[in-house]
Amino acid sequence: MSKPIIILGAGGHARVLADALLPLEISGFTDSNPLKVDSPLHHAAVLGGDDVALAYSPDDIQLVNGVGSVGIAIGKKGAALDTLGRVTLFKRFRSAGYRFLDVIHPSAIIAPDVALGEGVQIMAGAVLQTGTSIGDNTIVNTRASIDHDCHIGAHVHIAPGAVLSGGVTVGDYVHVGAGATIVQGIHIGANCMIAAGAVVIRDIPAGETVIGVPAKEVKDE
Ligand SMILES: CC(C)(COP(=O)(O)OP(=O)(O)OC[C@H]1O[C@@H](n2cnc3c(N)ncnc32)[C@H](O)[C@@H]1OP(=O)(O)O)[C@@H](O)C(=O)NCCC(=O)NCCS
Repeated sequence: MSKPIIILGAGGHARVLADALLPLEISGFTDSNPLKVDSPLHHAAVLGGDDVALAYSPDDIQLVNGVGSVGIAIGKKGAALDTLGRVTLFKRFRSAGYRFLDVIHPSAIIAPDVALGEGVQIMAGAVLQTGTSIGDNTIVNTRASIDHDCHIGAHVHIAPGAVLSGGVTVGDYVHVGAGATIVQGIHIGANCMIAAGAVVIRDIPAGETVIGVPAKEVKDE
């Protein structure tokens, strides 16, 4: 029998993950709000706060990181991600020995040689071409497209509809906004925020927020 699956979180991203996992059944969601406990959510109920997972030994359960990340950053250098605790949650349970399940929607197209880290989430309609690698706890969201030989770090969010051309590298903790385009061969440093709809045509050093077409740096306030 397969191990129970718990999705940590009970918001919109968590519900999309529950759909992507079908026909696998999940045991439940977690939510810090006690009023939501036992309420039916989406294929399953809220079981309690995140600590309900600790009732299981790490070998007896599979976790899914259900916390999404939206990316809010102007004037806050280096604060591109983890506004909602996604990274903290992953690190907390990994350091306690728990493992995170990869979630791959059946409609995603992934070349056979693509390397996927632990707890990656490849959502509906995403395309990952040959030679690409995706780091731990990274989301490639709905209909995002990552072409050949791209290297995407850990704890990255490639938001819906973003397009990465061939040979792009993206550092850890980066948010690539919805509908952004990154042209071929670009390097994006760690902790960057690429605004929704931006078109990146030059390398971006670590910690920058860039916006617009072509994408330009937004300075700290
Ligand atoms: C770039 C971004 C991080 C800025 O967020 P913010 O710090 O809250 O910025 P604000 O909304 O206060 O806007 C500040 C200014 O930037 C402009 N701006 C914000 N986002 C912009 C964008 N994507 N493209 C162009 N201009 C943008 C605003 O119009 C505003 O301009 P003004 O000062 O002339 O009025 C955010 O807008 C963004 O694009 N986030 C990514 C969202 C995303 O990918 N969501 C997917 C979730 S699954």
